[in-house]
Amino acid sequence: MRLRISVLFSGRGSNMLAIKNACDSCSIDGMILCAISNRIEAKGIISAQEKGLPVFVFSKEKFPRRRYTRISRLLLDLGVNIVILAGYDELVKKPLLSDFKGRILNIHPAPLPRFGGKGMYRMEVHKKVLESGVKFSGPTIHVVDENYDSGKIIAHEKVTVVDGDTPESLAERILAVEHNLYPKTLAKISRGEIQLF
Ligand code: GRF
Repeated sequence: MRLRISVLFSGRGSNMLAIKNACDSCSIDGMILCAISNRIEAKGIISAQEKGLPVFVFSKEKFPRRRYTRISRLLLDLGVNIVILAGYDELVKKPLLSDFKGRILNIHPAPLPRFGGKGMYRMEVHKKVLESGVKFSGPTIHVVDENYDSGKIIAHEKVTVVDGDTPESLAERILAVEHNLYPKTLAKISRGEIQLF
């Protein structure tokens, strides 16, 4: 099935760009119809626009009420069939959550559920991984529900923790793996090898 994607992001949006490149090179049978940021200052806004993606900003300041109703309406109008969170720093709320139930994915930069949950984001995640002494970390892709980092896991790739790793060095290696894992997983979904709908 051809994927009609919307990406939600809050920061630099490097996963969004990796997915855009994979669509452009036809590694994914699909296209990004729009990108949505909840932060006006997100660096990814400019890079998405440079790639020709329509970008909409739905910040709390601009839309204090019914923000997820507006987002959902826009995505339904555009005919979006899958929503991708790529560094999106808020819980997704209804009606977006219910309108796209089972079709919203997130990538988390560590194994779940052990290194997920409220407050587990950015360097905090990698700090916790290093403190725990585990030998492997790596990104996890999961279906989004009403809680932080829960929902069915659909993909994970191991990244070895090496001696002398800092949260930053580990984050950098994991991000490079994410840029491959997210497009690869979306390609599997479009080929029907992973069933979401
Ligand atoms: C990634 O590390 C991802 O695992 C997490 O947020 C980061 C997003 O990076 N959810 P980017 O904005 O895609 O560069």
